[in-house]
Amino acid sequence: MLSPQVAFQIVAYDIRTFGDPVLTSVAEQVENIDGKIVRLSQAMLQAMYQAPGLGLAAPQIGVQKQIFVYDVDGVPVTLLNPRIVESRGEWVYDEGCLSIPGLYVEMLRPKEVLLEAVDLGGNTIQIEADELLARLFQHELDHLNGVLMFERMTPDQREEALSEYKRIADGGTSEGETRHIGLK
Ligand code: NI
Repeated sequence: MLSPQVAFQIVAYDIRTFGDPVLTSVAEQVENIDGKIVRLSQAMLQAMYQAPGLGLAAPQIGVQKQIFVYDVDGVPVTLLNPRIVESRGEWVYDEGCLSIPGLYVEMLRPKEVLLEAVDLGGNTIQIEADELLARLFQHELDHLNGVLMFERMTPDQREEALSEYKRIADGGTSEGETRHIGLK
């Protein structure tokens, strides 16, 4: 007999990293919210918690659909077909990405955003976000448009980030070592 856990077991996905073409493709809109989409969102949350990270977009596990998940305060949230309808202010934050492990880059982006998206119940919702959550929304939305952090960096940062990332990816650093690149 199967243990009860098996019924809820979900396929484990690897997180795709920089260089994988799925990360630079535009994701498709979700048309039908069916069991597949629900299972996908569960798998995404599992991958996100395992990493661990605060947010994860579907292309990061190789699925070109407009879905992202996040958890910034203990509550897992899944959003579909998101778009930013308003943004204002400026805020500097040290941004990291599960698909570019080991690199944290200080970036300036809008401080507040108003996000419109569809939840798993099919309802269109709006979320006002500030600082960390606003940054997370902008970062995950970029993933759905095939945009990685490198494209948001200044040219000087990008040059340094690419060479640091190469060093990290080539195993030139110890496991778990991180590199911080300030705003310049
Ligand atoms: Ni990311």
